[in-house]
Amino acid sequence: MLIRRACEADIDRIAQLETICFDDSWSREMVAAELRGTNPSVCYLVVEGEEILGYAMIWFVPPEGEICNLAVHPDFRRRGLASLLMEAILCESAERGVDKLSLEVRESNAEAQALYSKFGFKIAGRRPEYYRDGEDAFVMRRYAEGGY
Ligand SMILES: CC(C)(COP(=O)(O)OP(=O)(O)OC[C@H]1O[C@@H](n2cnc3c(N)ncnc32)[C@H](O)[C@@H]1OP(=O)(O)O)[C@@H](O)C(=O)NCCC(=O)NCCS
Repeated sequence: MLIRRACEADIDRIAQLETICFDDSWSREMVAAELRGTNPSVCYLVVEGEEILGYAMIWFVPPEGEICNLAVHPDFRRRGLASLLMEAILCESAERGVDKLSLEVRESNAEAQALYSKFGFKIAGRRPEYYRDGEDAFVMRRYAEGGY
């Protein structure tokens, strides 16, 4: 099992993982646009051989960054894979001079909120009806120096 950066050859398998992990998954075109486009996206994968077990998509716009998506295949959860992805994100954030990371997470998504809290993120706001089904999002933020 290892962490590596995604490339265009991974688009189909990332899109497949998206459909497994999310009801409102990103389409293949959306994944492809992130990896091919002009967006400042970086995508990390946890892989075992040819299998993609987890992935994270981040925008780095120093001094800020946004975690756009992060997911682990249901069969491989609670084994520390999301934590590996988070460590890779925090490491690259430090290297790029990104000291403020943000993300949106469903109000009902206690698992993901617990993950982000473990890595120093705190709830900083709420976006009403952020998701297509009308659910609110929490905005969570992490500052490198620990100040809020
Ligand atoms: C959230 C998610 C990425 C966690 O992945 P994971 O590989 O299982 O996470 P890890 O094993 O690295 O767990 C790290 C921490 O996250 C928290 N956590 C993860 N799963 C949890 C669960 N089911 N219940 C409570 N806390 C949980 C815990 O704090 C855990 O630390 P601990 O093991 O010391 O208790 C995974 O459940 C997932 O893909 N969910 C669906 C997609 C999703 O919601 N993504 C987030 C979008 S914002």
